[in-house]
Amino acid sequence: MSDSILEARSIEKSFGGVMAVAGVDLTIRRGEIFALIGPNGAGKTTTFNLLSGTHALDRGAVNFDGHSITGLPSHRIAQLGLVRTFQNLQIFGSMSALENVMVGCHLRGRTGFVAASLRLPSVAAEERRIRAESLDYLEMVGLANRADDVAASLPFGKQRLVEIARALAAQPKLLMLDEPAAGLTRPETESLDDLICRIRDSGITVLLVEHDMNLVMGIAERVAVLHYGQKIADGTPAEIQADERVIGAYLGLDWDGARDYAFA
Ligand SMILES: Nc1ncnc2c1ncn2[C@@H]1O[C@H](COP(=O)(O)OP(=O)(O)OP(=O)(O)O)[C@@H](O)[C@H]1O
Ligand SMILES: [Mg+2]
Repeated sequence: MSDSILEARSIEKSFGGVMAVAGVDLTIRRGEIFALIGPNGAGKTTTFNLLSGTHALDRGAVNFDGHSITGLPSHRIAQLGLVRTFQNLQIFGSMSALENVMVGCHLRGRTGFVAASLRLPSVAAEERRIRAESLDYLEMVGLANRADDVAASLPFGKQRLVEIARALAAQPKLLMLDEPAAGLTRPETESLDDLICRIRDSGITVLLVEHDMNLVMGIAERVAVLHYGQKIADGTPAEIQADERVIGAYLGLDWDGARDYAFA
């Protein structure tokens, strides 16, 4: 098995005149937490959209877990094990927390349409199994006691956790989190830190886009920096924090300044 789980080569995407992602190479190793950072508009979410098949590449190629996923539709990419969450939270507000997570399980469900329509006993058994499994994922994110709450009634930080639990239910090999700490309180961010490490320790590789530098520098094994669609640095947190180009990209601020900027 290859050491890397994802390799993106010279990936590119422009919108009108804006080169959102301009020839980026990324190599993500199995089992690591890899962070992608950069100022607003740098191309981080667009990179996620390209890797997950949400947007088509203009140019370049992506290999995931031994497969070429270049040009594949997003549901095929998700079935291969590359699963993402969204910067602008996407959950089903009127469903319960548990039902949201069950949707994640169903994405990889085996019960066919015919069996489901005939209400065969195997369907009921599968449903019970999915319910129990979904509860385990809610437990993992600390929400088992809110399983029956309507998702929209939960505080924002907990809704983000529901989205992460749903992504886990799809059994990813690589989980991509787009700004999971956005809108969270400081204690919530601290427990997110622990959750992301537990996800990694369970054998899932994590690609993290995040502005919270405390979070990124505390947990990522490696960090890549985007600026105007280009990768300007790639290295350990210590290397990134000492990199002149990176500091320049964050408006010439020092890291405390960059942190204030990120929280602004
Ligand atoms: N669907 C789109 N249509 C047109 N322009 C887009 C689209 N998506 C992104 N862009 C542009 O591409 C550039 C990169 O945007 P992107 O959302 O990838 O940045 P980002 O690094 O995720 O920023 P942020 O930190 O604010 O989330 C920006 O100039 C943005 O305006
Ligand atoms: Mg973004």
